[in-house]
Amino acid sequence: MAMQTGCCSAAAVLLFLVVAAAGASVAGATYVRYKDPKQPIQARVEDLLSRMRIEEKIGQMTQIERHNASSAVIEKYFVGSVLSGGGSVPSEKASAATWQEMITKMQKAALSTRLGIPIIYGIDAVHGNNNAYNATIFPHNVGLGATRDPDLVKRIGRATALEARATGIPYTFAPCVAVCRDPRWGGCYESFSEDTKLVQLMTSAIIPGLQGDVSTKHPRGVPFVGGPKHVAACAKHFVGDGGTHHGISGNNTVLSFHDLMRIHMPPYYDAVIKGVASVMISYSSWNGVKMHENKYLITQILKEKMHFRGFVITDWQAVDKITTPPHKHYYHSIQETIHAGIDMVMIPFDYPEFVADVQAQVMRGAIKMDRINDAVSRILRVKFTMGLFENPFPEHSLTAQLGTKEHRELAREAVRKSLVLLKNGKGRKDGKPVLPLSKKAKKILVVGTHAHDLGLQCGGWTKSWQGQSGNGITGQGTTILEAIKSAVDKKTVIDYTEHPDKGSVSKNEDEYDYAVVVVGENPYAATAGDNLNLTIPGPGPEVIRKVCELVKCVVVLVSGRPLVVEPYLDTMDALVAAWLPGTEGHGVADVLFGDHGFSGKLPRTWVRSVDQLPMNYGDKLYDPLFPFGFGLTTKPADRS
Ligand code: GLC
Repeated sequence: MAMQTGCCSAAAVLLFLVVAAAGASVAGATYVRYKDPKQPIQARVEDLLSRMRIEEKIGQMTQIERHNASSAVIEKYFVGSVLSGGGSVPSEKASAATWQEMITKMQKAALSTRLGIPIIYGIDAVHGNNNAYNATIFPHNVGLGATRDPDLVKRIGRATALEARATGIPYTFAPCVAVCRDPRWGGCYESFSEDTKLVQLMTSAIIPGLQGDVSTKHPRGVPFVGGPKHVAACAKHFVGDGGTHHGISGNNTVLSFHDLMRIHMPPYYDAVIKGVASVMISYSSWNGVKMHENKYLITQILKEKMHFRGFVITDWQAVDKITTPPHKHYYHSIQETIHAGIDMVMIPFDYPEFVADVQAQVMRGAIKMDRINDAVSRILRVKFTMGLFENPFPEHSLTAQLGTKEHRELAREAVRKSLVLLKNGKGRKDGKPVLPLSKKAKKILVVGTHAHDLGLQCGGWTKSWQGQSGNGITGQGTTILEAIKSAVDKKTVIDYTEHPDKGSVSKNEDEYDYAVVVVGENPYAATAGDNLNLTIPGPGPEVIRKVCELVKCVVVLVSGRPLVVEPYLDTMDALVAAWLPGTEGHGVADVLFGDHGFSGKLPRTWVRSVDQLPMNYGDKLYDPLFPFGFGLTTKPADRS
């Protein structure tokens, strides 16, 4: 009996230990290791992974568009991530609270599933939280490259993270770390520069801004997101997106391995060192092989050699895009993509087919379970790291961060530092500098399509994917005309018109002290912006000619890239490259009127004609109109 008792009580102790270690019920409370924030992240990942069924794993790898993300769909497919495609908003003028409600509903659905794994909601906050009404819209990356100011760029990252979090969003598909080598590419304004080093400098600044600072002891390649005031970032588009033939979006990048590593790869290394949470793959190919199926670069270089431990995501519908000959079937595209090392698939609409296909292939052994486990571990690692399990819901206290005065001041600072002064008087009439302009002029002319249009001033990826013209679209903001009006003396008369043939423009040249001509490109993104001639769109050239022949003129060019200006340069008294400045037009007036000096430097080579393209800083034959790094300076005006 004693023996039996002894035997039984020893067994009971043993059983208790086993049960406790396995995380089962102890004293009535269920201990679940992955839910314990005190546990190391890797242990939580492994514990959760060990509990997951195949459909739950595939769900984690699936990112769908918000239009499809009903509670029923999230629950049925165990969806791991939801995105807003460009311009996909809950309603046109949705408030931060409306965004938060939408995400809360999705999150509740995700948390109601068996294992309660939160979704990660992603958006393209690429120059501020640019889909959200009343968000602060910062200059696009090309303008930030012109500032040469990494501290500023870091502060912009921090502000963008806060504005995304204000709408309940914890993940942005930014930064674009492309090294744009040919401005004919429609995505060129998303690139900080043609110069690898400058892109690296800005990458190393904006990622800590978005995600928070990694400590010097942070293990290389492990993702880092510093809590609910930061967001998970995404370095994109891996790799060589800015090097395609003729700058055609998604085209082939023909380069030796050495040149790919030298020109396009370094920013990814910096991103990995800064603990970037994810990397998005490029639609483009490298030497004929689609990047989405390039196992060598994704798995061997990025994951193994660089030790990247975050997750790799596809671009929008990219799996569909590789279903072209010689791939006869979608099935092969999925298989090759996942085998190449993709962890999360941005499959906005066709998720039922995708999920069924992956499951069937796993069952047949065509997709290895190890690969699925690796993908899911990476996604879970990011979710645990950023505290999504502990704080899955939008933080209401951050609502007021959308479009704050501080962020608008920051954007204004960025605008004034991004403007590049290309000509200031020299070679024309008396040759005297034209800038800074006088605030005390009697009468001035402001003219051009881009002078009073917030939509044009912001460019693509603003409220919609392609961007659009119009003053109401962004909510708050200041056009260049409005900024000029508030900068000049109250007594100064301003005539404004889009075109000198319209409105009441005086033909008497003595009537105006000077004219500010604001013209440029119309908004675009990606393929729609691919452009083989890079001329100033009409009626820009005609407006420049007519106005600059009449009166002393400053031309402000609003564009995502250098345009062909040489034919008109002689007629202009001054020329300013303003890039795509965003909502804070005051920054333009700040430097035009000398409250601050011009300091921006070209982040790109300014070619004379498109025949010269591609032409980049460091090329043997280098004969630009303005070289990389060029930018005249002015001192703040003395108003004493
Ligand atoms: C696009 C872009 C990519 C973006 C994604 C999601 O097609 O190439 O930069 O993040 O779709 O909107």
